[in-house]
Formats: sequence, structure tokens, C-alpha cells
Amino acid sequence: MALILGIESSCDETAAAVVRDGEELLSNVVSSQIATHFPYGGVVPELASREHLRAIVPVVRKAVLDAGLQLDAIDAFAVTQGPGLAGSLLVGITYAKALALALSKPLIAINHLEGHIHAVLLEHWCSQSSERALPALALVVSGGHTHLYLVHKSDGAWSYRNIGRTLDDAAGEAFDKVAKLLGLSYPGGPIIEKLAAHGNPRATAMPLSQIKVHQKRHGSDAEETYDFSFSGIKTAVLRFVQKHAMNSSIEARKAAVAGVHEPKAEDYLKHLDQFTLDLIASFQETVVQDLVRKSLRAAQQFEVESLIVSGGVASNKRLRDEFTSRAHSRGLQVFFPGRGLSTDNAAMIAAAAFPKYQAGNFADVHVSAEASLPLGVP
Ligand code: KG4
Ligand code: ZN
Repeated sequence: MALILGIESSCDETAAAVVRDGEELLSNVVSSQIATHFPYGGVVPELASREHLRAIVPVVRKAVLDAGLQLDAIDAFAVTQGPGLAGSLLVGITYAKALALALSKPLIAINHLEGHIHAVLLEHWCSQSSERALPALALVVSGGHTHLYLVHKSDGAWSYRNIGRTLDDAAGEAFDKVAKLLGLSYPGGPIIEKLAAHGNPRATAMPLSQIKVHQKRHGSDAEETYDFSFSGIKTAVLRFVQKHAMNSSIEARKAAVAGVHEPKAEDYLKHLDQFTLDLIASFQETVVQDLVRKSLRAAQQFEVESLIVSGGVASNKRLRDEFTSRAHSRGLQVFFPGRGLSTDNAAMIAAAAFPKYQAGNFADVHVSAEASLPLGVP
């Protein structure tokens, strides 16, 4: 039996969690910084580091307390090494290192993206059933990443091959930027999802670039890759706004909700016309269709047994519904993280650490933050 305490501080959430044997969630504490970054419409790295420093001790204490444990009962400390904001990562790493050294327990360094994949494994795959669902294709879709991985497990060790990535903006970043452009709150994903339900997803045609490569071995025909590009759709929304002279209504909307504390969909709906709601719904639908289409094409080519969809954008219900119905019609199982485990958390870090704990794969005292840490092999 192993009790692992995970710590996550890669972006704007300070989180700690205790997981038993990689499967049983004993506690899960997340302190969000949304209120701090809200006025800026995005994460301010300097403020994020300061907030982590303020929150890390009480968050870890609460995670241990909620699990009904004392700190010295923990068998190992796991921490996000990267990718993420260097200053934010360093807060979690330094604290995890201090705990491990003070209590003479092992320290395990975890890739944040591997954590997102294990958020799904933690809830849906107990150790006996996981083998049947492998190999799997994992789509990690968040504010910083839109990555496709082939996931294998051999002799208890997980391995990942990166077969697709975003070449510019991540899908979550596109949600955030389009929300900001339309005078909506940060983070953009949750508010766009709620407002999109009031619009027509087929009202506005949105172009998405198809990334193609010339396959030398197979002649000169260009073949679509599994890479993504979302900066084009963001520009398309901007052009649409300019073409239809929507700026004054956007400014009026911003002014109208400026005094509202943490505005909700109902607050915005009073200041949104059907034309803008249709644009929002069409934007969401285009992103969803692109994510689902490329993932299913890859799943078919690589003949995987199941699909894993994780990361902040995986909390989007439209994305979940579309993945579920299209995957099921092809006989593929699709797994999502449950409530609270799509967006950043430390349970996924503690869960990802368990196989490394079993293998004795520990970090040494020199481990440091890796802002661009890749996962697996290309
Ligand atoms: O995984 P996450 O919490 O942090 C990163 O690692 O980036 O993901 C945050 C991202 C943000 O861009 C946010 O707008 C997006 O996930 N997001 C959503 C939804 N909830 C969060 N995007 C679409 N629909 C949602 N419901
Ligand atoms: Zn994340």
C-alpha cells in the first residue's frame, strides 16, 4: 500500500491531494486564483507565483487533514515538474522537496500532461481492467496544450508517443481569447459553453486550417497530419466582429457587466443579441468538430482500444457528447475525467506517481522546474 501526496502548481491553481495506490482518492484540495487574474483577462505569471506561495502551506495541510492522516503517514511526495510557468512550478517543487527531505520520504517528479491522462485512469480504470482498454489514444486539451498521445503500458510502466500537437494556440487558449474579444469573462471556456447553448451552431461558417505534409515515400500527395491550429479561427472571429461592426456592442456589454462581481451567463445574456450568440455557438462547434474528427481519424489509423479525453476543455459538455456518440458508433470506448478532475488538480499528479513509486523511479534533490517539459517520444 502506498499513500502519495501530490502537489500541483503549474499555472493558476494551487492543489494538493492524497491518493492511495494510484486509485483511491482520499482528499483533493484546489485553491483557484481565478479572482486574482480575472481583471487581466488571463494569467499574470508574477501574480500566480505569489498566490502559490501564499496558498501552498494551507492547501497541503488541508489535503492531509481531509485524508484523515498525519503528514508522517505519507509514503512519497509527488510534484509537477513541468510544463507550466517556471515561477509557479518552482513554488510547488521547492515545497515538495522540503517535505520529502524533512520526512526522509521519496520525491517523484511528474509531467503535468501525464497527470491529465492519469486523471482519467484514476477514476475509470482499476488496475485489473486497464489492460483491456490499451493501447489508448489520449487527447489532452487544455489552456496550454492540444496534444494527441498513443498510450501503452508494459511491465507496469506507462509510455506515450506524441502523434499530434497544436502548432499555435491551444484549444482552451482559443476559448479564452475569443471570450476576451467578445467582452466575456476569464476563463473563456465555461462561459462560452453556457452561452453557446442559446445560439445556432450552424449559423456562421468558421474556417479551420488543415495541416498537411507531403509524404515523400508515397509520392507528392499532401496528407493531413494530426496537428492542430486554432489561431486561424480566433482571427476569423476577429474579422467577423470587424466586418459586422460589433465593437460598440462589445464595449457596451463590458461596461454593463463591469460592476457585477464574477458575472454569470445570465448577466451576459441580458446584453447579448442572437447574432452574437450564434457566433459563439458556431465557434464552439467548429473547435469541437475539429478535435473529435482528428482524434477519431487517429484512433482508427492506430487501431486503439479506447479514447481518453482530458484537460480543462474536456469539461465541455458539447465536446463530451460529440465524442461519446461518434466514438460509440465506431465501437470505441471513450473515457473522461469526472467532476473536478478535468481542470488542474493534484489528484492526477499523485495518481501518475504511483507506477513510478512502484518502480523506484524517484527524483533527486537537484530536480527543478522545466517550463517546456515534453511528454513521451515524438
Ligand atoms: O487543464 P486546465 O485547468 O489548465 C491548463 O493546464 O491549461 O485548462 C484550463 C483551460 C482554459 O483555457 C479554460 O478556458 C478551458 O480549459 N476550459 C474550458 C471549459 N472549462 C475550462 N473550455 C471549454 N469548455 C469548458 N467548459
Ligand atoms: Zn492542465
